[in-house]
Amino acid sequence: MILNEADLVRWGNRIGQEVSGPLFIGLKGPLGAGKSVLARAVARGAGIEGPIPSPTFNLMFEYSTERGTSLVHMDLYRLLDPEELWELGWEELGSSSEIVLLEWPERAESFLPQNRWEVELVVPSEDSDLREVAVTRFGHPKGIPGFPVILHGDTEEGGA
Ligand SMILES: Nc1ncnc2c1ncn2[C@@H]1O[C@H](COP(=O)(O)OP(=O)(O)OP(=O)(O)O)[C@@H](O)[C@H]1O
Ligand SMILES: [Mg+2]
Repeated sequence: MILNEADLVRWGNRIGQEVSGPLFIGLKGPLGAGKSVLARAVARGAGIEGPIPSPTFNLMFEYSTERGTSLVHMDLYRLLDPEELWELGWEELGSSSEIVLLEWPERAESFLPQNRWEVELVVPSEDSDLREVAVTRFGHPKGIPGFPVILHGDTEEGGA
């Protein structure tokens, strides 16, 4: 499936609106692929307000909403060794009901949870505004909504 940024955001919003934790989603793709764009869209859909900065230096930000949703946004790009995950409280993740969005999940190696989704964003060519999106299920995570279906002739207002 190939999505422009607006459609990727729409899909992320839907995930945030419709899923409840515990749920773990790894976000893969090169620098600038749109992993944070998608994570932010999920967080907005889940009702998180205010700034949602990239966790590039802090590695982890936690959010919660008034209706009791909690969401963890992590970026492991700067993780030097998977063992550092314990310092971030990795052990407790997923034990309560948060939605965990993890950029650069491959850095966690064997510590990734068995039940998870991985979303890979591929940039088809330099400067392209489109992303090829590949979704892979590992184990038996809770379901996530599918891609937005855009029908020919659909308008913003009339869209499903
Ligand atoms: N179809 C698209 N989907 C998502 N982002 C897009 C798309 N087209 C263009 N962009 C742009 O690509 C950039 C993606 O930046 P983002 O910070 O989300 O990347 P990232 O994958 O999180 O990178 P990093 O590994 O550095 O954290 C944004 O500037 C966004 O506007
Ligand atoms: Mg990012």
